Amino acid sequence: MLPYGRQLIEEDDIAAVTAQLRSDWLTQGPMVAKFEEALTGLTGARFAVAVSSGTAALHLAALAAGVRDGDTGVTSDVTFVASANCIRYAGGKPALADVDPTTGHISLPALRSVVANLKAAGKPPRVIVPVDFSGSVADLEGVRAIADEVGAMVIEDAAHSLGATYTSREGERLKAGNCRHAQLAILSFHPVKHITTGEGGAILTNDEGAYRELLELRTHGITKDPARLTKVDGPWYYEQQSLGYHYRLTDVQCALGVSQAGKLDRFVARRRAIAERYNQAFGASPFRELLKPLAARPGVESSYHLYVIRLTPAPDETSSSVAARRRALYDGLRERGIAPQVHYIPVHTQPDYQRAGFSEGNFPGADAYYAGCLSLPMFPGMTDADVDRVVNAVGEVLTP
Ligand SMILES: Cc1ncc(COP(=O)(O)O)c(C=O)c1O
Repeated sequence: MLPYGRQLIEEDDIAAVTAQLRSDWLTQGPMVAKFEEALTGLTGARFAVAVSSGTAALHLAALAAGVRDGDTGVTSDVTFVASANCIRYAGGKPALADVDPTTGHISLPALRSVVANLKAAGKPPRVIVPVDFSGSVADLEGVRAIADEVGAMVIEDAAHSLGATYTSREGERLKAGNCRHAQLAILSFHPVKHITTGEGGAILTNDEGAYRELLELRTHGITKDPARLTKVDGPWYYEQQSLGYHYRLTDVQCALGVSQAGKLDRFVARRRAIAERYNQAFGASPFRELLKPLAARPGVESSYHLYVIRLTPAPDETSSSVAARRRALYDGLRERGIAPQVHYIPVHTQPDYQRAGFSEGNFPGADAYYAGCLSLPMFPGMTDADVDRVVNAVGEVLTP
């Protein structure tokens, strides 16, 4: 089976991990800071805090953004559930904003209306979590303008977009996760992401106060910083200053991360070349009106965590009919040894969110997107022949 995503581990990655295993440090050693330094270089953010997963990164980011019991926060309805769950971990109540079905990004008009409703109810959001869906950076400046009106913090969920760039309204070229338009950003290093540490994540920020808080939260809320201690005791002395977690990433994982970080440009260049090959082939195929790649956002150069195609609805076609065509395409590809995936089931349809009061029918953009989306194989180890095989298989399945 050709999967939709797959890590690329090379001999030097294996050598880096082996060397780490032979060293004195398996965890809490110097490799963590090295990996964090690599991450600030790759994103342009001032500070990075490596943690055990992207989900842990979202949890700590929500806490650093000030989300507490009874607060509200908003994220996109089309994302991995962790983007919404982090608000709940911190004691808050998430609201979901509909998406633009052509890009999969949070819709600014929908976000504006969700924020206005929360404000009218006396609960303006403490945080907004835009998602750089599929590797294309969300309209962070647009989100930030809405957030600033109500004093909300912005956490850029950049789990999909390491290596992507965008042009700001002032014409500056910026990297995903740089934290110019968000107070905090998060990354994930799950194996299907751009670089991997097995499991892993990081929080990025330009704010030194948030950085120090995140360091403590990552390790039980404990500090040894003399400036933070309430008394002087022995060299062994530490204090728990807040309720933190054990969200550390190991030195073994960070050794892999440092090795992988050096390859990001090559990996992203390959992802872009694969996307271009798909775009050319689908753009020239007899099926070009039946399926479209996700629309690009102006000024954004995606790093293509995912390559998503959407089945175009015929005039007056119902969502369930589009969904049936998508199912047939999914099944047909699997019969041909290709394993596509669906990203994502809208969060509002999850039973746990339905129980919390989210109802069907309030998210027409997400529902339309979900009915027709399919993620085709996209990973740097794919050959051109793999891409052509997927294109031919799609053609075969769509041929009546
Ligand atoms: C958009 C998004 N945010 C957060 C996460 C969570 O990352 P992790 O799996 O590293 O916890 C994911 C993981 O797939 C994701 O896709």
